[in-house]
Amino acid sequence: MTVGIVGAGQLGRMVALAGYPLGQRFVFLDPAADACAGQIGPLINAPYDDEAALAELAQRTEVVTFEFENVPSHAVESLARQVLVYPLPDTLEIAQDRLHEKQLFGELGIATASYEAVDSLEELRTAADNLGYPALLKTRRLGYDGKGQSLLRGASDVEAVWNTLGGVPLILEAFVDFERELSLVAARSRDGTMACYPLSENEHRGGILRVSKSCHDVRFQAAGEAIAEAVMRRLDYVGVLAIEFFQSGEELIANEMAPRVHNSGHWTIEGAETSQFENHLRAILGLPLGSTAARGCAAMVNFVGRLPDIATVTALPHVHFHDYGKAPRAGRKVGHATIACTDPKHADEVLTRLVALSDACSRGELE
Ligand SMILES: Nc1ncnc2c1ncn2[C@@H]1O[C@H](COP(=O)(O)OP(=O)(O)O)[C@@H](O)[C@H]1O
Ligand SMILES: [Mg+2]
Repeated sequence: MTVGIVGAGQLGRMVALAGYPLGQRFVFLDPAADACAGQIGPLINAPYDDEAALAELAQRTEVVTFEFENVPSHAVESLARQVLVYPLPDTLEIAQDRLHEKQLFGELGIATASYEAVDSLEELRTAADNLGYPALLKTRRLGYDGKGQSLLRGASDVEAVWNTLGGVPLILEAFVDFERELSLVAARSRDGTMACYPLSENEHRGGILRVSKSCHDVRFQAAGEAIAEAVMRRLDYVGVLAIEFFQSGEELIANEMAPRVHNSGHWTIEGAETSQFENHLRAILGLPLGSTAARGCAAMVNFVGRLPDIATVTALPHVHFHDYGKAPRAGRKVGHATIACTDPKHADEVLTRLVALSDACSRGELE
């Protein structure tokens, strides 16, 4: 079959790399002419809502999926009239908007940070009075890697923060004093079968994911899976979905969800029986899902800004290097490395080394 992928960044690229051994072909749609998945498959270079481009994508493929959820809903609906589309358009509409996402969590009885929708300076003042400080003001749409967010430490920040973000629909969230950030990556097939990966434990720097570790935590695994099952059933979800959580005490507090493969699941390429990318494809193609069991310990480190020297990384035992084929740029995810092995002590040592390399890259120290 030929699979269409809306978006041709590293996520689309890794989906295709997982799909070629399954005999699938791929066509990408992306507004950036140099989008990195274009290096490994045909790219339709046009805006996401270009009707002619959408028609071409539908015509050249049997099923279409997304590596990027912020596609205008009329474009997704137009595609869905022409070709099989997974996940369903309604799902994307909810996942694009932090307010709708939180309302869905609320309806399903899933805990979230306290929040209020904010559309004016006056509403921001009232919401901040109600929620208290610190609080995070976020754009409802289009935020990623911590972009479109500002922290309010006290009442004196309200006006300045409004001046940076105001003018688009916003949401104010109470700040969660979490112990850890966890995420659950889950797949659901066309027939409703589900498979969940072990939770990932995630560390962010400046709003950007830096490290994910596969995490064997029976306490929170069952709770995370129950939440994912409720969300996926409700949405009649097909494909891979990721839910990000804050762990606070004994509670999992849902932060956001991504209706696609997720950066915190990259360790599954070498660290799980079947990768999140392959299981996303199996799900949307109606194939049986593969085992999500971890193979020993696995952790992933993102390279942000620029890549370290490939020889330095590949010299580390049990380490796998992923170069996305993107030009270096501050704050941009350009690659990652995974350590996957059966010895936790070795995994920790190598992880420390990889984090040091990643830090040096982000500081621009590796010329
Ligand atoms: N309500 C909150 N309380 C505490 N930290 C938060 C809150 N919301 C976001 N953060 C921090 O900011 C990061 C990015 O926010 P998130 O809502 O996940 O947006 P993005 O779409 O940029 O990933 C989170 O992973 C977390 O570290
Ligand atoms: Mg996030």
